[in-house]
Amino acid sequence: MIGNERLTGFVNSLYKGNTPFLDALERDARNDDIPIIRKETQAFLRFVLKERDPRSILEIGAAIGFSAIFMAEYSSPGCRISTIENYEKRIVPAEKNIEKSGYSDRITLIRGDAAEILPTLQESFDMIFIDAAKAQYPFYLKEADRLLKPGGLILADNCLQDGDILESKFAVERRNRTIHKRMREFLKEITASDHFTAAVLPIGDGIAVAVKDK
Ligand SMILES: C[S@@+](CC[C@H](N)C(=O)[O-])C[C@H]1O[C@@H](n2cnc3c(N)ncnc32)[C@H](O)[C@@H]1O
Repeated sequence: MIGNERLTGFVNSLYKGNTPFLDALERDARNDDIPIIRKETQAFLRFVLKERDPRSILEIGAAIGFSAIFMAEYSSPGCRISTIENYEKRIVPAEKNIEKSGYSDRITLIRGDAAEILPTLQESFDMIFIDAAKAQYPFYLKEADRLLKPGGLILADNCLQDGDILESKFAVERRNRTIHKRMREFLKEITASDHFTAAVLPIGDGIAVAVKDK
């Protein structure tokens, strides 16, 4: 949660843990500095999955498969998840983890750059979880709009950039300026869109949620 670590710690202490498999996978990811969804984002996602009961989810950014396995665990057995990852060092562990989780019949890992994969996808999804290259979020939004069913939901993680989003571009390190600029574009587009209803929530690293008009 952005702003107050003690408050975040308190709120997170209220949530019960995940399954032993997910808890172990989360520990491994944290030990290896692999960026996965934070505890408070997990709680929100678990809630959304229960509330929306999606049948099909597209995830952009699998890393080692934690959030894909998490979504399989907390969605209905009929829900299928496709997840895209382009970093070979993460694809191999992701495949192994999905296999070990017992959810390989529900999770499909698509190898490759989301910029190339997304335009080739034709099926539509109930929910799209955006969690990959931050500078690509405006592009992911366009593709998500095309791929989302009417009434479907977009969730986009890391959109407040640990608070950096509100700084002037000159206060942001030069190497992060493109991300800063594109993330602002993304937030403007998703909130101003006339066919989405969106909210930007300071949960975890900031999560944007948007429902597409029916
Ligand atoms: C924040 S991590 C995803 C974490 C994962 N969703 C979780 O919570 O378990 C972002 C992932 O997106 C991948 N990624 C970045 N750019 C990508 C691209 N253009 N195409 C596909 N994957 C990409 C990175 O390699 C990284 O593993």
